[in-house]
Amino acid sequence: MTKLIDSYNRSIDYLRISITDRCNLRCTYCMPSDGIPLMNPDNILRYEELLRIIKICASHGITRVRFTGGEPLVRKGVVDFIKNIAGIKGIEDLSLTTNGVLLKDYAMPLKNAGLNRVNVSLDSLKKDRFQKITRADNLEDVLKGLDESEKIGLSPVKVNVVAIRGFNDDEILDFALMTKEKPYHVRFIEYMPFDVEAGWQKEKCITAMEIKDVIEKHEKLMPLDSSKNRTGPARRYKFSNAVGEVGFISPVSDHFCGSCNRLRLTADGKLRTCLFSDDEIDVKKALREGASDKEIENLLFNAVRKKPERHYINDNIFKKCSRTMSLIGG
Ligand code: 5AD
Ligand code: SF4
Repeated sequence: MTKLIDSYNRSIDYLRISITDRCNLRCTYCMPSDGIPLMNPDNILRYEELLRIIKICASHGITRVRFTGGEPLVRKGVVDFIKNIAGIKGIEDLSLTTNGVLLKDYAMPLKNAGLNRVNVSLDSLKKDRFQKITRADNLEDVLKGLDESEKIGLSPVKVNVVAIRGFNDDEILDFALMTKEKPYHVRFIEYMPFDVEAGWQKEKCITAMEIKDVIEKHEKLMPLDSSKNRTGPARRYKFSNAVGEVGFISPVSDHFCGSCNRLRLTADGKLRTCLFSDDEIDVKKALREGASDKEIENLLFNAVRKKPERHYINDNIFKKCSRTMSLIGG
C-alpha cells in the first residue's frame, strides 16, 4: 500500500467530508439569515460516489473519517450511508460533527450503524442567546442530544464552542464547569476568518490563552498529555475533580499545521488541501467523466502533494476564505 505522505513528510490518515451544504440552523457567524445560495443538488456527491472515494482513500492509509456539513443529519439516508462506510476495510474511526438539533433521535441509529463518536457545536447555554446566535430555538434539543449520545456511548462526546468577543465570552466559565458534571470534552475554538456578512474582525477573536486565563481565575486546570489518544489539535486540561475535560484549539494564535494529518472533501466533490486554502482539486468532474480508480488515486496523491506547509491567516497577504464553514465543513 502506498501511503499518503505530503511534501513536508506529514502522513495523511484523516479525511473530513462535508456531505451537504444545507443546515437547519443559521448561525450568524456562518450564514446570513436567509442562508447562502445552495448548491445545485446535482453537484452534491452521491453516496455511491462518496463510498468509492472513501474506499480508494482507505486503501492508501486513511483510517479516520469525519462527516460534517452544513448539518450532516439533514441529509436523507445518512444512517445507511454511515453503515456502509463503517464496513470499509481499514476505516477505524468514524465521527460526525453536528449542531445536535436532530441528535436525540439519531444517536442510537448512528451508533448502531457503526459511528464511533460525535462533536456537537454549541456556543451558548442560555436559551435567548442560543436563539440569537443560531436564529432558532433548539437549545433543549441540543442538550438532550448531548445527553443521549453520552448515555449510549458515542463517546467521548465533544462540545465545540467558538469563542467570540462580545458574543459569548461571558459563558466561557459555564462551559468549562460543565465538565465537572458531565464527561464531555468541552473544546474552545478560536474564531477564524471566514467571509460571512457579520464579518470576522481580529478583535472578536479571543485567543486560547485568554480563554484559559478566564477559566483559571476561577480554578486551576491541570494539563493532560495532548499526544495521547490522537486527539488532534486540542491542548487538553481538566479540573482536578472533573469527569470531563477542557480543550483549546488555537488555529489563529498558534497554528498547529506541523502535525496536520487531514484532507477535506467538499460536498460538491472538491478536495481541499487546507481549511484555509482555496486551492481545490475537482474529484467530482473526474468521477462523472468515468475516471478509473487509478485516475482518482492520482488526484488524491496530487492533493496531498499540494498540501501547503501551513496556513497564512496571520499574515498580511491573507484574504478571507471564499467559502464559509457550511461549505467546507470545518
Ligand atoms: N471560526 C471557528 N469555528 C467556526 N465554526 C464555524 N465557523 C467558524 C469560525 N469562523 C465551527 C462551528 C462548528 C465547526 C464545524 O466549525 O461552530 O463547531
Ligand atoms: Fe449550521 Fe454549523 Fe453553520 Fe451553524 S455553524 S449555520 S450549525 S453549518
